[in-house]
Amino acid sequence: MLVGVCLTVVAGAALASVSSPARAASCPWLNTSKSPAERAREVVRAMTLDDKIAMVHQPDPIWTHYGVAGYIPPNPRLCIPDLMLNDAGQGVGDQEINTTAYPSAIAQASSWDRSLQRAFGRALGFEAWHKGVNVQLAPDINIARFPMNGRNSEAFGEDPYFMGQTAVAEIQGIQENPVIATVKHYALNNHEVNRMTVSSDVDERTLREIYTPAFEASVRHGHAGSVMCSYNRIHSIYACENRAMLTGILKKRLRFDGFVMSDWGGTHSTIKAAKAGLDMEMGVAPGRYFGSALKSAVQSGAVPVSRLNDMVLRILRPMFRLGIFEHPHAPEPQAYSANVETPDHIALARKVSEEGTVLLKNRGGVLPIQGTGKRIAVIGDAGGPHGTALSYNTGGSAHIPEAGTKADVVNPFQGIQQRGTADTDVVTYTDGSSMADAAAAATAADVAVVFANDAESEGNDRPDLHLSNAQNCTLVGCSKLPQNQDQLIETVAQANPNTVVVLDTGGPMLMPWLAKVKGVLQAWFPGQEDGNAIAALLFGDVNPSGKLPQTFPKSMADLPVKTKSQYPGVNDKNGIPHAVYSEKLRVGYRWYDAMRIRPLFPFGFGLSYTTFAIRHLSLKPAGHNATGATVRFDVANTGHRAGAEVPQVYVGFPASTGEPPKQLKAYARVFLAPGKSRSVALSLNRRSFAHWSLAAHGWRVSPGCYRVMVGNSSRAIARQAVIAVGAHCANARTHIPAGRARVSHQQGEDRR
Ligand code: NOJ
Repeated sequence: MLVGVCLTVVAGAALASVSSPARAASCPWLNTSKSPAERAREVVRAMTLDDKIAMVHQPDPIWTHYGVAGYIPPNPRLCIPDLMLNDAGQGVGDQEINTTAYPSAIAQASSWDRSLQRAFGRALGFEAWHKGVNVQLAPDINIARFPMNGRNSEAFGEDPYFMGQTAVAEIQGIQENPVIATVKHYALNNHEVNRMTVSSDVDERTLREIYTPAFEASVRHGHAGSVMCSYNRIHSIYACENRAMLTGILKKRLRFDGFVMSDWGGTHSTIKAAKAGLDMEMGVAPGRYFGSALKSAVQSGAVPVSRLNDMVLRILRPMFRLGIFEHPHAPEPQAYSANVETPDHIALARKVSEEGTVLLKNRGGVLPIQGTGKRIAVIGDAGGPHGTALSYNTGGSAHIPEAGTKADVVNPFQGIQQRGTADTDVVTYTDGSSMADAAAAATAADVAVVFANDAESEGNDRPDLHLSNAQNCTLVGCSKLPQNQDQLIETVAQANPNTVVVLDTGGPMLMPWLAKVKGVLQAWFPGQEDGNAIAALLFGDVNPSGKLPQTFPKSMADLPVKTKSQYPGVNDKNGIPHAVYSEKLRVGYRWYDAMRIRPLFPFGFGLSYTTFAIRHLSLKPAGHNATGATVRFDVANTGHRAGAEVPQVYVGFPASTGEPPKQLKAYARVFLAPGKSRSVALSLNRRSFAHWSLAAHGWRVSPGCYRVMVGNSSRAIARQAVIAVGAHCANARTHIPAGRARVSHQQGEDRR
């Protein structure tokens, strides 16, 4: 653990070790020389039925504890510390104060930078612990099945492999602290309308290829201590009492050894949920199902005591593994007032926003803004000189402290004005409420920068939030900017040819004005360093390097999800809405590729102030008899500025497998000085060539000719070559065996 490293950051809040000789004698499991599993078993042997029941539900209303979402009390007799559960993935939120407001998850993902994501996770876990929280309810890894999902900004986009990579980095970072990471929401929680009742109906192959791989990576490679099951149903059965999903897939096939908690109020039964594999009830009606009702069910034998023991073992194991017994969270109420917003964390929030902002358009090199003495008009929702109305945040449980409660938020106007002063620029501000004022400000300026945003929140998909816009929306909702912001952009663009748009939105928007503006930056919800980060990018102090983790469509008609049966679902005879995932594997770029639809901006896309080339692709078998390959190529910075490129490796499967044209299987982030080039080697493993076989109910590799493609977006493939996998292919660059699955169905997933 890196706890020691973090400790130096916040003075006076050192992690207290709780072992003493007397405690060690009465609680032998405090002996750290034993394994977490052994220690957990020892505790369970010493527990009464009541001790066990107390660990699997929240006993009292959460508001008796400061600012947290959920609570499991301590057991002093058994030396068990309490668990404080809190949100979420953009910072330590709910009612917490004095925490850092980081950029949203979709912005984090856009950096394609695993080590930055790990650093973010480490900082998030650190802040959590010092705020008295030891179960952080993050990351959210629900796939962006369609862009109007109200929680789009809380997760990492549309690709299962990419989602898993980003999640693993964050989980590892969080769990470097004595804090359990929680991956959520398991599973198929892909939109908000009817989220408490909808049944997500998906076929087995799509489930295993698109919707479970990120959970698999999170528990197998990230070793997440807990998983939160979701509100929705899956094939009519609530996710939190769905035995096939919880026990069948998660615990058996994916070998998850931590605990499953329900989303808040997501438990619907006692016996059914317990037997299905739910380990902890969380929610607004404390202990409704897993309190006295579960105790009676165990006493009557309706729920075997072995199942209750298993629930408790699963909760205790990560507590031991992550050092929670040795380092119970910082004590309340001091923790509540503690300030964990360190200078390092503020700098990290800025770096994540700088790396996670995507430059979508830069015609004629309108950016970066260069030279001195320029007139810059900042227009729209940029905060203004004193303003707080800025959009750096989402609503709902992922919400982080508002501008009003934080003194140190830097809004875009402030950031640009401060940076512009260094160049003796004149920076003006117009809030955009008057088109005439906006046009006048733009006319008088050398460059006009328009900030547009969208308020998004858990509990709503985008059409709900903008009822004023509803008449313009199609069946699948609205992805237009609300409150006449499209018109504002048009007006400004007409008044000034050098117009740059900055989008502070949680997901893709339609851009009817795109041809009329010179520059577009997608900044998502950028967190408290918003202004500093966007100024650094606009002025070129930082070279943009973000890439989209999600396709931006040209029109709503192009979306893979566009019938009522797909979203929000059609009611069955019992009134249960069913959302049918009939687009199957064709999610995100897989759909646009398969249907040959050109997106507005493709998955993986993002510009830079320099240029790059990808050259000299070579493939090598991974080793004797292994189904895998090393993909080697050169990345060169062919422009005049230092910058980072993200080469992406896609694999195209043989048509016989029924896979979409290409799938992301590896990527790297490469920083290069101008004129420099680097050789990059990325590994493909057995899983990179595997699809889910319905016949085997497992991952299988079909012999055939596979295409390995390297590019800097899903639509910009620079080099490609064929690899023969257990087959002869006329034009193959190399041959590898198809191999055989190495573990059986019963033993769990195929090893990679
Ligand atoms: C409901 C949300 O769906 C979940 O993401 C959150 O962690 C819990 N509430 C607790 O606030």
